[in-house]
Amino acid sequence: VSKGIAATSDAIGQPRTATARKRLVLFGAGSLGSAFLQALAATPSAGQLVGLVTGHHGHLVVRDGMEPDQASEQLLGAGSERSEGPPDINAILDEAAPDILVECIPQNVRSGEPALSILRAAVDRGIHVVTANKTPIAMGYRDLCYRGSKTGATIRFEATLLDGLPLFAWMAAAGRGPVRRVRGVFNGTSSLVLESVESGSTRSRGLARAQAMGIAEFDPVLDLDGWDSAAKTALVANVWMSGSLRVIDVVRTGCDTLKDSRIIEAAKAGQRVRLISEIERGADGRVRASVEPGFLLPGDPLYALHGGLGGISVETDAGLHFSLLQHASGLDEAAKAMVLDCQAIAEGAPQA
Ligand SMILES: NC(=O)c1ccc[n+]([C@@H]2O[C@H](COP(=O)([O-])OP(=O)(O)OC[C@H]3O[C@@H](n4cnc5c(N)ncnc54)[C@H](OP(=O)(O)O)[C@@H]3O)[C@@H](O)[C@H]2O)c1
Repeated sequence: VSKGIAATSDAIGQPRTATARKRLVLFGAGSLGSAFLQALAATPSAGQLVGLVTGHHGHLVVRDGMEPDQASEQLLGAGSERSEGPPDINAILDEAAPDILVECIPQNVRSGEPALSILRAAVDRGIHVVTANKTPIAMGYRDLCYRGSKTGATIRFEATLLDGLPLFAWMAAAGRGPVRRVRGVFNGTSSLVLESVESGSTRSRGLARAQAMGIAEFDPVLDLDGWDSAAKTALVANVWMSGSLRVIDVVRTGCDTLKDSRIIEAAKAGQRVRLISEIERGADGRVRASVEPGFLLPGDPLYALHGGLGGISVETDAGLHFSLLQHASGLDEAAKAMVLDCQAIAEGAPQA
């Protein structure tokens, strides 16, 4: 059900001034989408919300713009009509005429769909995209960039990995040369579950904590079996290391393979267990990647990570070796990363 409201001012069809705010359409109004709307309300310069799209709760287009912190209520409020079918992307983009499509719908680790098609539809129209969804970037990064090079659209995705660290922009600006090896802890939910066992509590308490924080995937198997980490690992391999990995190409072992007794024993010995991602480009040029529970020893830069915090260690061909660690993570950080991506686009930042 479209609840589009016709524009009454000069928002559509009139030449925009250089200072006009970018028009945003948001796909996904769940945990992260809602946090994004709050963050956008606090940062109006990042853009003007003109559309809100969900999977099963209809969509709303207000071409003159709407208040981000009231948009969900407007769409989902009592008495609103509900559409059951999938949203018609092209019709919504025609109606809303956005400059930026912001996407945070559930990830599909097998195909990246329907997010990948949504991003392609936008980029092919010259609409910039900001996404928090890993798999479409893991699977479609080069294709999306190619399409964007034809239409002028840019693709930004800082919220996909270690939210709170502007990782991709930083790496692009650092001019660090080819990346040879990457190690990281990329999934907060599995870290909270493993830490819960380390501290003598249960896995289910750790998972409940992650769910209460809004950082668990809709299906927590994606977190605990390493799928979410594998999607992020494939993304890093493909974006930084010219890999061509699908998510299923990442060798994956979940948290459940490690017994509680082994985790507690490791904790007593001063070690930490985390789901560790590793990516390496071999001498044959092939990029190989894995995700598995591993033991972190004091002295390892990743050992410093507590709770759901993540981090990454990078080695380059030029011999650089550095680590970046989160000091805060969660919905608010991911939402801020998306707002910063919108701001970067509004400021005319090139493809990172
Ligand atoms: N939560 C986090 O901390 C976090 C951090 C970084 C990245 N992410 C990523 O962000 C994405 C969303 O996570 P979340 O926790 O916000 O999920 P969520 O709470 O399950 O919300 C998903 C939202 O997407 C909507 N949706 C589903 N299919 C859609 C479609 N085809 N078109 C438009 N909207 C659609 C849903 O609408 P209906 O309810 O009507 O179906 C819902 O509003 C995931 O890809 C996740 O990996 C999340």
